Amino acid sequence: MLDSFGRDITYMRISVTELCNLRCRYCMPEDGVCKKAHEEMLTEDEIITAVKAAASLGITKLRVTGGEPLVKKNILSICRRAAAVPGIRELCMTTNGTLLPALAVPLREAGVRRVNISLDTLDAGKFRYISRCGELSQAVDGIRAALDAGFEKVKLNAVLIGGFNDGEIPALAELTRRYPLDLRFIELMPMYDCGDFGPDAFIPCTVVLDRLPELEAMAPDGGVAKLYRLPGAQGSIGLISPVSAHFCRDCNRIRLTADGKLKPCLHSGDEYSLKGLDFDGMAAELRRAILCKPSWHGVLDAGNRSRAGRSMNQIGG
Ligand code: 5AD
Ligand code: SF4
Repeated sequence: MLDSFGRDITYMRISVTELCNLRCRYCMPEDGVCKKAHEEMLTEDEIITAVKAAASLGITKLRVTGGEPLVKKNILSICRRAAAVPGIRELCMTTNGTLLPALAVPLREAGVRRVNISLDTLDAGKFRYISRCGELSQAVDGIRAALDAGFEKVKLNAVLIGGFNDGEIPALAELTRRYPLDLRFIELMPMYDCGDFGPDAFIPCTVVLDRLPELEAMAPDGGVAKLYRLPGAQGSIGLISPVSAHFCRDCNRIRLTADGKLKPCLHSGDEYSLKGLDFDGMAAELRRAILCKPSWHGVLDAGNRSRAGRSMNQIGG
């Protein structure tokens, strides 16, 4: 369905849980999140009804996110049922990868076609620092499991943080030569409580081009990333610049949080609740939310934090 700026909204991101087994500094407060009451969260049936309502309005692509979607115990059932909704052509997932060794094959069988796995660093100490409690080896094992499970695509997401991983741009990029992996560098977004990042942490994705002059531009694939490739590489390298060069004009997405709030824009506090509604009620709210999608997210930088009103684990990226 078209929004009021003529953008065709075809993509819904669904956060199935706010909980996560990691605590990445740009995403979660240190002490985790106050677990919301079970009754506040969408049930599995409500998530599926929301997918059906969204499909009736022209949503064709879904991405399941979190928190960490794989800590949700009924995740396979949610994926299986969502993938089977008529009109849904593509089901993808964004995960931190740590639970993929056990779940990659069942997810693929449940109808998940693509996975994006977060990987900000190849240094075990830095991984422990940024995730506050994770082990690099678990994420790497998850990436291997995803490659072995035969997903149509496996992408790595690296949040680019000045003074933290900008020195690792060549090493991360090298992965696209060695493996059939696509890599996305994502600019750090200033979420309201994502703590301790000073102005130097917010660097534009163009530093990737400075560090890797051999990158060759590729044709866009319809996504929000500017695409490049290292000569001879198996996978692409994409630059996602929500801060330095926002892509709101091409935004085709809407977000659904685990507690049932539709967010027409990641960085706006506007929310439309689906909790407790039936198919018709959800379709009406979805329509309202899409029509109220703002034209862009406004200025974002170290001094102008996101007005999302939630931390990233409560939205899903
Ligand atoms: N800025 C940019 N990306 C973020 N993510 C989480 N928080 C932020 C942030 N503040 C990314 C994660 C993950 C995806 C869900 O969103 O790295 O890949
Ligand atoms: Fe968990 Fe992902 Fe947030 Fe890290 S970025 S804390 S892995 S939800």
